[in-house]
Amino acid sequence: MAAAFDITELVTALRAAAAGENAAKAVRALLEETMADPARVAAGMPDYPENDIIFHEDEAVSIWHCRFMPGTTVPAHDHKMSAVIGVYAGRERNDFFQSDGKGGLQRSSATEVSPGDVLSIGPSAIHSVSCISDTPCCGIHVYLGNLTDTERSLFNPDTGEALAFTMDNYEKLQRPDQG
Ligand SMILES: [Fe+2]
Repeated sequence: MAAAFDITELVTALRAAAAGENAAKAVRALLEETMADPARVAAGMPDYPENDIIFHEDEAVSIWHCRFMPGTTVPAHDHKMSAVIGVYAGRERNDFFQSDGKGGLQRSSATEVSPGDVLSIGPSAIHSVSCISDTPCCGIHVYLGNLTDTERSLFNPDTGEALAFTMDNYEKLQRPDQG
């Protein structure tokens, strides 16, 4: 039987992976290995009261636990750094957007992420995330930089307008998932 999942050990290993060469690749490999047994991760993960938990942040890497509740959508946003996301519970849909060349945004692709899946997102990507399962969607999010200290944008999907990533704008743009 595999040893119980320990989030502290994973955070230590992710920090080492992010500090080396080919950080995004190394982080992805580690998350793929970890998420290969999503039930083990779910069983070993504490039941956090908050939807977002920051395990670690420095200039090289930010390591978060994110929980999205059923029926909710995180408005379109950027990260300005590479991100690798491993999901172990629920199911989420990522919609990706690109400039339409007229100052607006258009949806360019969508991908569904299920327990065991790992999604790599490039530094210039814009995406929104919807929880499409009837149970919360939970994952480990790794960003190759200091996410909290980075000035990022939220985007109005109807107009393409970029807004500062503030809680106010976040709430303004949040809407029920249209599917
Ligand atoms: Fe994101």
